[in-house]
Amino acid sequence: MPEPWWKSAVVYQIYPRSFCDTSGNGVGDLEGIRRHLDHLAWLGVDAIWISPFFRSPMKDYGYDVSDYCDVDPLFGTLSDFDRLLEEAHRRGLRVLIDWVPNHTSDQHPWFVEARASRESPRRDWYVWRDGSPERPPNNWRAAFSESPAWTYDEKTGQWYLHLFLSEQPDLNWANPDVVAAMRDTLRFWLDRGVDGFRMDVIHCIGKDPALADVAADVAAIPYCALNDDPRTHEHLRGLRALLDEYPGDRVMVGEVFLLTTEQVASYYGNRDELHLSFNFVPLYLPWEADRWRGCIDEIESVLGRRDAWPTWVLSNHDQPRHRTRYGGDEGRARAAALLLLTLRGTPFVYAGEELGLEDAVVSEASRVDPGGRDGCRAPLPWDAQEGHGWAGESPWLPWPPEPATRNVAAQRRDPSSILHLYRCLLAARRGSPALRSGTIETIDAGAAVFAFRRRCGDDERLVLVNFSEEAARVEFEGQWRIEVASAGVGTDEVFGGLLPPGQALLLVSGKAD
Ligand code: NOJ
Repeated sequence: MPEPWWKSAVVYQIYPRSFCDTSGNGVGDLEGIRRHLDHLAWLGVDAIWISPFFRSPMKDYGYDVSDYCDVDPLFGTLSDFDRLLEEAHRRGLRVLIDWVPNHTSDQHPWFVEARASRESPRRDWYVWRDGSPERPPNNWRAAFSESPAWTYDEKTGQWYLHLFLSEQPDLNWANPDVVAAMRDTLRFWLDRGVDGFRMDVIHCIGKDPALADVAADVAAIPYCALNDDPRTHEHLRGLRALLDEYPGDRVMVGEVFLLTTEQVASYYGNRDELHLSFNFVPLYLPWEADRWRGCIDEIESVLGRRDAWPTWVLSNHDQPRHRTRYGGDEGRARAAALLLLTLRGTPFVYAGEELGLEDAVVSEASRVDPGGRDGCRAPLPWDAQEGHGWAGESPWLPWPPEPATRNVAAQRRDPSSILHLYRCLLAARRGSPALRSGTIETIDAGAAVFAFRRRCGDDERLVLVNFSEEAARVEFEGQWRIEVASAGVGTDEVFGGLLPPGQALLLVSGKAD
C-alpha cells in the first residue's frame, strides 16, 4: 500500500477573510484564493486548508455557521468554490475545508426552530437544561469571556449550552438525527471533491450527559479546553468510516485543543479515528533548545506507540504569529521555519508566515474579534502599491508591519528573502525521502543546539538549530554539506562545524560536487 498523500504533504492554511479581496468589500474571497494558486504552486506547498467560508452571521468570523452547504456571499458562491477546487486540483494542490461540528450559529434554521418552543421537533438538537434563571446548570465556562457556557432563554424558560459565544449554541451529538444531519454536510463537500476536512474543536462533540461540574481548581479554564469524553471517540470512528468510503485518501485533521500529547494521541484511536490531529503543545513552548528537545522526544514516543503521524503548527488564526511570540526577530522566524519543515510529520504553514509577517498592531478602535485575535489575522500584502493587491480601499483589519517591503512581490524578487527560504525548504523536503517520511532521532549537540537526524534507507539529513545568541561548535562523523541555511537559503558548502548564533542548518551527507 502506498503511503497516503497527507503524510508527506505540507498544508498551507488560508484564513479567507485575510488572503485577498477581489470584490472590493474589504474582505478576502474565494476568487482571491483562486487568483493566487499559481503563487502557492510556485511556493511548493501540497495542500491548502481554507478556514470557514460558509454562510454565517460572522460573530466568530465564520466559525458560527448558519448553512453548512453554501458559501457566504461575502466570499463568493458555490460555483466560485467549484472553480477554485478544480483549478487547485489541476495544479496538484489538494483542498481541505473547515468543518465546524460542535456548534452552529444561533441563526442556523435548526437552532431557530429548536429555540421556538420546548415542543419543537428539533429542540433536542441542542443541549437544553432546566434551572433557575439565576443559576446556570453547571460551572462550565465559555471561551472568550469569563461567563458561563450557558444562556438562559427567557421565552422557553431553559438554559442552552454554548462552549463559545452565546451565538454559537452547541449541537447535541447524543441525538442520532444530529449525527445524521452533520454526516450529510460532510457528504455534500466530499461529493464535490474536497480532499478532507480540518475539524473544529472536534474533541468537544461528545459530552458527559450528566453535565457534571468541573473541579474548582480548573473552573476558570474554558470548558472547551477540558472536555475529553469517551463518546467523542465513537463519533470519530463513525466519521472515519464515512471518509474511508471515498476514494483518494480523504483526510480528517482534528483540532484537539487539549494541551497534553497523551490526550491528543488518544484521538487517533487505533488508526480508526482522526488521520491527523493538531498538537498545540509545541506551539506554546518558549524558544528554548531543551524544551523543544524534550517535547519532540515525547511526541515521538507517545504518538509512536499508536503509529500515529504527528502534525506541526507554529502559527494559526487563533494565536499571535510565532515571529511575534518569539520576540520579533526575523532570524529566529527563519530558524523556526527550518525546524518546522524538517520535523517528522505533517507541517502546517499559516499564510503570511512565509513572508515573516508579524502581528498587526490593532488599535482599540479597530479591534473586532471577541477573542482578541485580530493581530494574526491582518490582511496579506501582495505588492508595494497602495492597496497591496487588494481591490477595496481598506481591508477589514489594518496591514501588518512594513507592508511596502514585506509583501509577496518584493520578496519574490529577492532571492535572500524568507519567502525564498520557505520555498527552498519545501523543495528540499519534497526531494528527500528522509525528510518526507524517514525516522527522526535527536542527537546530543550541547545545551544550546537542538540537533536531530532524519533517515530513510541511504538518504540522510541532519538538522541543527542554534537556540542561543552565541556561535556553537558541533562535531559529527562524516562529511556534511549545507543544503539550506536559515540565514541565507540554499548553499552547497561543506559544513565546517561552526553554527552561527541563532541560526539553523539543514545538512546532507556527502562531499560537495
Ligand atoms: C477553534 C477555531 O480555530 C477558532 O477560531 C474558533 O473561534 C473556535 N474554534 C470556535 O469555533
